[in-house]
Amino acid sequence: MKLNRRGLIYLGTLGVASAVAKNAFASQAKEVKVADLASISPLKPVSFNYPDEESPAILLDMGKTVYMGVGPKKSIVAYSSLCQHMGCPVNFDSKSRLLVCPCHISIYDPARGGMCVEGPAISRLPRIILKVKGNSIYAVGVSQGIIYGRSSNLGR
Ligand code: FES
Repeated sequence: MKLNRRGLIYLGTLGVASAVAKNAFASQAKEVKVADLASISPLKPVSFNYPDEESPAILLDMGKTVYMGVGPKKSIVAYSSLCQHMGCPVNFDSKSRLLVCPCHISIYDPARGGMCVEGPAISRLPRIILKVKGNSIYAVGVSQGIIYGRSSNLGR
C-alpha cells in the first residue's frame, strides 16, 4: 500500500487516538477489592476509597434488587461519598435508606442510582461500578458524572 503525506497523518492520528483510548480503558478498568460478599450485611455501609485514596466511597447492600445492583440479590451498589454540592461526605441513614449530606442537607437515593431527591445539589452521586468475582466484590470504574473536586475520574 502506497501512502501520501495526508494518509500518513491520518494513520498517525488514529494511532494516537487508539493509544489514548487504551490508556483510558486501562485506568477505568483499575480493580480495587472492596469486601468479601460474606462480610456485607443489608443496610450496613462499607467505606472504601476509589479510584484513589483521596476519593471516599460507600458500598451499600440495600437488601433487595435495586437499579444497577450486583451480587446474589442484585442489591449491592456503591457511590462516591462526596456530596455533589460542595464535597462534604454523605452519611447513610438506615431508617430512611437514604444518603444524607450533613452540610446543607442534600439527600440522595442509593436505590435509584444515587439520584438527588432533595437539597441544593443538582446532580446524582457518581456511581462506582462494581463487579463480583468469586466471593469478593471489586470496584472497577466510575460512571454518571465526575467525583466532586476532580477534573476527571481517572486523574486529579
Ligand atoms: S455540601 Fe452537601 S449539601 Fe452542601
